[in-house]
Amino acid sequence: MLLAVAPAASPSPAARSLLMSYPSGDAPHAHGPGHGAISTTLCVNGVEHELLLDPRATLLDTLRETLHLTGTKKGCDHGQCGACTVHLDGRRVNACLVLAAAAGGRAVTTIEGLGDARTPHPLQAAFVAHDGYQCGYCTAGQIMSAAALLNEPCGDSDDEVRELMSGNLCRCGAYANIIDAVQDVRGNR
Ligand code: FES
Ligand code: FES
Repeated sequence: MLLAVAPAASPSPAARSLLMSYPSGDAPHAHGPGHGAISTTLCVNGVEHELLLDPRATLLDTLRETLHLTGTKKGCDHGQCGACTVHLDGRRVNACLVLAAAAGGRAVTTIEGLGDARTPHPLQAAFVAHDGYQCGYCTAGQIMSAAALLNEPCGDSDDEVRELMSGNLCRCGAYANIIDAVQDVRGNR
């Protein structure tokens, strides 16, 4: 069990709008949970964490800065790049757009929970085999997105995979190899 305080770093647009909905006298302090902090249990990769959360803290910041699960990356912090993709109850979400408090009681899975060097998820192995990355910054998000895609309705063609992976940007342009890796795991290579 871990009792920790989630910081209020870089609130997303959604978090900012929530803050704006506070009566001014009730708004939590800008640099800490303040008296508006709420107690939440986050279940991440099968481990429960009891946290005292600033209501403005995003799931992304809480994972990285409070739980030190830095495999999930922050790119745009605005829901546009997919670097922060994690699973919430098995479905992919942008962690920068989810308030941590809203993830309480739900199953959060990050890249650390998908596999490791000894027992990699088939997609992790396929990304290595197909050279599906260059700098690697987008890779965790790509793999988490692809892992969810395996359970979504998706046709066999590369174009359909491209469409369903279109929320995950790669500034290195490793797209061709990423598609190869995903299609390999789907049995289409
Ligand atoms: S960091 Fe979340 S979508 Fe870019
Ligand atoms: S591998 Fe560098 S951004 Fe995708």
